Amino acid sequence: MNIRNATLEDLTIIHEIETLSFADDSYPPFVLRQLFDISHEYFLVAEDDDKKIMGYVIGNINKNNGRAWLLSLGVHPDARGKKMGRLLTEKLIELLENDLSTEICLTVHPDNASAKKIYEDLGFKSVNTYDNYYNDLEARLLMKKQLITLRFNA
Ligand SMILES: CC(C)(COP(=O)(O)OP(=O)(O)OC[C@H]1O[C@@H](n2cnc3c(N)ncnc32)[C@H](O)[C@@H]1OP(=O)(O)O)[C@@H](O)C(=O)NCCC(=O)NCCS
Repeated sequence: MNIRNATLEDLTIIHEIETLSFADDSYPPFVLRQLFDISHEYFLVAEDDDKKIMGYVIGNINKNNGRAWLLSLGVHPDARGKKMGRLLTEKLIELLENDLSTEICLTVHPDNASAKKIYEDLGFKSVNTYDNYYNDLEARLLMKKQLITLRFNA
């Protein structure tokens, strides 16, 4: 497995994985393109041993206050359960930490056990539950990982 920055050419397969992962809630191609434009350094893909892209993660950071977000994480259903999601999340955290993020935020559906397992194992804590965070009448947990020590010690 190899993790690298996404390229423009990767966006079609990323959109396929996004659709398989989020169905009606997936980002349309134009949103992925815009996220690529504003977030390229935090837009990563994971390739399997045949160099086929099977997963991606997208983050961003507000460099004024150091608050970062994990915006999307998806792994192709055929590649799940092999730590790809965890490795993508770890790599994004590393990049954000290196860029002096003070905290990383994300939202996750409370029933999404595999995603929550990854986030909790990597130090994210649930800070709030919202009944209608995305205006879709679905609950979401807001989770945060504090990184403030690194910023002040840097
Ligand atoms: C969430 C997702 C990215 C995980 O990717 P993955 O590569 O399969 O994840 P990993 O293999 O790295 O880790 C999954 C962990 O969840 C655990 N897990 C799986 N099903 C579980 C369940 N029902 N209950 C608890 N833990 C579960 C696995 O055992 C594993 O933990 P371990 O490494 O300690 O054994 C993938 O399932 C996905 O794309 N889902 C749809 C999109 C999504 O939900 N994205 C996250 C939105 S916030």
